[in-house]
This record gives sequence, C-alpha cells and structure tokens, in this order.
Amino acid sequence: MDYLQIKGGAKLSGSIKISGAKNSALPVIAATILSDKPVTLTNLPNVVDIRTLLKLLGILGGTVNHTDTIATIDNGTMNSTKAVYEIVSQMRASILVLGPLLARFGECEVSLPGGCAIGQRPIDLHLKALESMGAKIEIKGGYVRAEAPNGLQGTRIVFDKITVGGTENIVMAASLAHGTTTIVNSAKEPEIVQLCEMIANAGVKIEGIGTSEIIIEGTGQKPLNFKEVEIIPDRIEAGTYLCAGAITASKITLENVNAKHIQASIDKLEAMGCNFQIEDNNITICGKERLKPINLITTEYPGFPTDMQAQFMAVATMAIGESMVEERLFENRFMHVSELNRLGADIWLKGSVASVKPVAELYGADVMATDLRASSALVLAGLVAQGTTNVHRIYHLDRGYDNLEGKLKKLGADIQRLSE
Ligand code: EPZ
Repeated sequence: MDYLQIKGGAKLSGSIKISGAKNSALPVIAATILSDKPVTLTNLPNVVDIRTLLKLLGILGGTVNHTDTIATIDNGTMNSTKAVYEIVSQMRASILVLGPLLARFGECEVSLPGGCAIGQRPIDLHLKALESMGAKIEIKGGYVRAEAPNGLQGTRIVFDKITVGGTENIVMAASLAHGTTTIVNSAKEPEIVQLCEMIANAGVKIEGIGTSEIIIEGTGQKPLNFKEVEIIPDRIEAGTYLCAGAITASKITLENVNAKHIQASIDKLEAMGCNFQIEDNNITICGKERLKPINLITTEYPGFPTDMQAQFMAVATMAIGESMVEERLFENRFMHVSELNRLGADIWLKGSVASVKPVAELYGADVMATDLRASSALVLAGLVAQGTTNVHRIYHLDRGYDNLEGKLKKLGADIQRLSE
C-alpha cells in the first residue's frame, strides 16, 4: 500500500493546472447510457473513481476507449442492466447508473451502495422519485430492482431534501421519460448544470438549469445523441490548492479554474486575510502569515461546500484565534479531527460543531486517511507540520485527486509517494 511522506515547512510558488471535476465527470459518464451512439468526453480527471465507473459501463456491455483524460464511449453495444456489487461497493456514485439504465431499458438491477465513512448516505429520495415516475421498485438480495416496462412517466417531484445525486439521477431518467418532469428543490451545483447542458445540447428541452426548479420534457424512450463534452474544472481540487497556498502563506497560481464555482471558498480565505488576483481562468492566491480565525457552516451550493470542510479545518489550525466549523450535510464527516490532533492541532468536537483552537505549531506524525477530503486535509497539515508526516491509506486520495503529489511537488512541496 502507498503512503505519502511530507517534510513540512517549504514555501510554495509557481502555477499548476486544475483537472476536470470528478463529481461532474461521474454523472456525465452515467448519462452516456442514455445514448446508443458513441460520445467523446474530454478533460476527464485521471483518478480511480473515473476508471471504476468506466469499468462498470464495460461490464454492462458498453464499448469504452479511455486514455488519461479522454474517453469515447459507445453504449450502443450495452447488453446488461445489472450493476454488480463488486463495482458499486467500491464507489457509491455507481448509483448514478440507476436512472439512465431504467429510463433507457425499462428495467435494471443496481447493488445497494450501503453506508460510507462520512455518513449513512441513504438513496431513499432517488427511489421515491423514480417510483413517482411509475417505476416498480423492490429491494432484494442487496440489489435495487427497478422496472418500468412502458417507460417512465413525467411528473412533479418535490425533493424533501436537496440531493446532488438524487437530482442527477432524476434529470437523467426524466430526459427519456414520457411527458414533462418538474423537479422542485433540486440541487444547483455546477456539476448539475453541466449534466443538464449535456442533455439539453442533445436536443432535450430543459428549463430552469442552475435553479432549484428544473423542468424537463422527455423524449419518450428515444435514445439521445450527445455532442462532445468537456468536463468543467474541479472546484474542490481548486479549493484544496487554495488552502495549500493559505496554510503555507505562499503565492501560487491555479490555471483552468472557474472562480465563480469557488466563490464561497475565496470569500472565507479573504476573511482569513488572503488576497486574490483573478484573471480569465487563472486564480492567484497570496497567503498571509497570521491568518484570522473563521466561522463556517457547510451547506448546498452556492453556500460553503461540505467537500471543503476538512481542508479549511486544517487551515484554521494555523489561525491566530479560535475558529468554528459546523457540518450540516453529513453526520460523520469529522474523521480528520482526531488525525489533525495527532499532528498537534487542538480541535474539540461537540455534535456537528468543531472548535478549532489556535496552536503555535503542528508537528509531523503518522496519520491515517479516512475518506477523500479528510485525506487532503492531512496532506495540507503535513505541508506546515515541523518534521515528517506520513499519510497512510492514500487510496482514498487516489479516488479523487489527479496527481496530487506531482502538483504539490511542482509548487515546491517536499512530498513523495512511498510503499509501506
Ligand atoms: C455528492 O454526493 C458528492 N458526490 C459528494 O462529494 C458531496 O459531498 C455531496 O454531493 C454533497 O455536496 C458526487 O457528486 C459523486 P447528496 P451525494 O445526495 O450525491 C442525504 C466527495 O468528496 N440524502 O447531495 O451522495 C445525504 O445522506 C464526495 O467528492 C438522503 O437522505 O450527496 C446527505 O446528508 C463525498 N437521501 C444529503 O442528503 C437520499 O436519497 C446530501 O447528499 C440522498 C441523499
């Protein structure tokens, strides 16, 4: 198993290119099931989760041609509708094939994804919405079995809670349904916008893209013919590198970023004392030695993202006063707290709120990555911790960060990948 060894204290400088967004690429790959013609995707991030979902399409009979950042997918050859446990158990986002498989083939079986490190993460809202579109759903033997032999029927769906994956599944299902589907209380993340635009560019009429009410006129089971899709820049990867600039008090530039997508993170870092220069698709952060403390609460886009909570907590350990971090989306997304404390942080948890007290220094230690973003928070802390930090179990990082150590090395960090 690989681990990352970081020798803390180096200042960062220079520029790196941000990769395509994992969380946009995943639904876009799932959406290719809605087509029986080849489609090309570009600017894919070179990460394990993307390879896992492409592998699932292959198992379903799709023809996939994949290099690091480009894939051509032809799901005209798809001949199975069973998303097997072996793949779904590796990656929860595989549940995104449920809506498109059911919409195109009128039936499918998808392994139940189960819980994960950051919380219970049920899929009840996905299932309830598909049932209201006429699907018959039963859960048996660990699989969701869904049927709609005459296709799905457009309807009005009101999500009880804003759900990114639920919105994506229903947008995909609705695009091949009979009639009009209205999704109320839909998610508004940039990843949802990209998915809707991909489908709209294939000729489906969609209103309300990027708002909390999306209206979709389905094709009545006629498969779509997609144009080439270029994956948007990864706003969470970009936010993570901004945190690297902030925690090390360095000046670094990120290329291929959409500043609008990371405004909530920029605002918080500005409040901590960092400065920004934004030009076209480039952002430069100028970090500051004595960061001010912050208060943040995670919420849905365009609010402060839960996927940046762990990284900001790492940065907050270097602030000159006490910060408060409240996690409102996931019930167990604080696994990094005890690991950051191993590095000398002074973080206290009470329910969903963490108080991050100031400490003079962090000190290198062996720490364990527990989930994707928690892992990147440990790497950030390692960049400033005195001495050597070893971050173990970095397979979590490899699922979602494209060449993290390569990019940090390019910026001047002393980091290397080693084998246990
Ligand atoms: C997406 O997960 C992202 N994953 C997550 O990113 C991200 O943390 C999350 O959205 C929130 O922004 C991908 O895009 C692949 P949700 P998703 O459905 O779709 C509850 C990362 O680090 N809920 O918006 O699974 C749920 O438990 C990952 O890249 C239900 O109760 O998130 C959570 O509390 C981790 N029932 C809340 O809604 C449901 O049926 C939001 O979850 C569905 C969700």
